[in-house]
Amino acid sequence: MAWYINAVFYELYVRAFADSNADGHGDLTGLRQKLDYLQWLGVDCVWLLPINPSPLKDDGYDVASYYGIHPHYGLMEDFQITVEEIHRRGMRVIIDLVLNHTSDQHPWFQEARRSKDSAFRDFYVWSSTPDKYQGVPLIFPGVETSNWAYDELTGEYYWHRFYHSQPDLNYDNPQVRAAMLDVVRFWLDLGVDGFRVDAVPYLFEREGTLCESLPETHTFIKEIRKVIDTDYPEAVLLAEACMPPDDLLPYFGQGDEFHLCFHFPVMPRLYLALATGDRSSVVNILDQTPPLPTGGQWATFLRNHDEFNLWLVTPEEREYLWDIYAPLPEQRIFTGIRRRLAPLLNNDPRKIALMHSLLFTLPGTPVLYYGDEIGMGDDVSLPDRNGVRTPMQWNNTANAGFSGAKTLYAPVISDPVFGYQQVSVQAQQADVNSLVHQVREFIMARKRLPVLGSGALEWLGDLPKQALCFWRKSDNQQVLALHNLAAEPLHVQLPESVILHDVFTGETVSGSVVLDVYGYRWFTATP
Ligand code: NOJ
Repeated sequence: MAWYINAVFYELYVRAFADSNADGHGDLTGLRQKLDYLQWLGVDCVWLLPINPSPLKDDGYDVASYYGIHPHYGLMEDFQITVEEIHRRGMRVIIDLVLNHTSDQHPWFQEARRSKDSAFRDFYVWSSTPDKYQGVPLIFPGVETSNWAYDELTGEYYWHRFYHSQPDLNYDNPQVRAAMLDVVRFWLDLGVDGFRVDAVPYLFEREGTLCESLPETHTFIKEIRKVIDTDYPEAVLLAEACMPPDDLLPYFGQGDEFHLCFHFPVMPRLYLALATGDRSSVVNILDQTPPLPTGGQWATFLRNHDEFNLWLVTPEEREYLWDIYAPLPEQRIFTGIRRRLAPLLNNDPRKIALMHSLLFTLPGTPVLYYGDEIGMGDDVSLPDRNGVRTPMQWNNTANAGFSGAKTLYAPVISDPVFGYQQVSVQAQQADVNSLVHQVREFIMARKRLPVLGSGALEWLGDLPKQALCFWRKSDNQQVLALHNLAAEPLHVQLPESVILHDVFTGETVSGSVVLDVYGYRWFTATP
């Protein structure tokens, strides 16, 4: 079985994690000092948000050089030692690969905009008018008003799907494709175990289309995959493509494109199911999720560094989710919600545990977001999505133990509920009943139950709508996971002809069980 099928990923922002040199920004040495923690938690693979040199107008998703490390984070040598240290602990590391665009500070763009005859002009997508590709949606509505930006230097417009400081690369140019394949090899040669590939659908543009998921994109992804399969067979490609599962299926190719794709529509439906006490939206989306080619796997998550994205729900569901989970205007951004997991769930430990239980038992490889394992809060007074990217809370000393600097890249959370005075790794490690211990217990259980990574999903029938109960089954292991989405206890009749053992307590049960309010239970089954 490929390693990523049963793995637990942990997404972290180096800038936010641990600052070793007291300059106010987290760095790679700081990260190395915290690897024991990640190993203790049971993380299999760390995903680092962009680490390249960047003006950080989009937190590194605006790459100014694909071949370096941002000076805040350290030197290339730091990166190499970090990779070695991660591997020495039996963990792996993937990094973000930002294919679609660069920063406007990237030398390619700087050259390209010098003149229409520049040798690099064709690295980007230019037009004398902003009229091409009409109808292509804006990804950052409310901030950007067009996918074209006017370049005063040469009097033409350049194409950008994200901020105007992120010009899109022109993938019709073979030099661009070759340059990005070199980037892929460079980082794999340094020892990374793969990439989370950013903004995958948008690489090519064609008139009369939405400029998304064009056949040419698949051809190029296959080229990347070929490099991996030929020379780095253990490495993985994880796609960020926010689409319904049917549209994502082509990104797995015939097992010759991505190894993993984020299953975006599951996430809002978990929150919807919890808010309505009704499992149907989760059941529907998973019933509509097609089987994957061998070696393919979904990646699932409860939150990440972006907004809680509401693209893939109906307009009514979107309004409902906004009302419930982001009642204040400042909690909303783009088509989503800029809050973290614990605040979204009113810091209710039962709901937080329930959502984690679903994350760890439903199909897919779970991807945790740094800080959510201790229930960190957010800061909606910060602009953009920065409020969910605040410093990791290590202990209750100044700056949450994140940094010895006077000024930090972003303030630590210090409100009475979520502040580092209350919420920290140190405090929770010392308390076996804390969230971090609970998340660790889920991770450890998952390691003993590979069926959760690869087993088939089968709903337990005939239950009231607040019951989200299912089997995960493989040839040699069966797990029954029960979840109560409601604020009242739930009586569940257990299947007959199997003996069920509680995964966490070892208790043997038969007949029926009563789930607590927002309760969950996991059982292994012996015929
Ligand atoms: C998706 C990333 O997750 C997001 O943070 C970024 O702003 C865009 N891609 C643009 O790179």
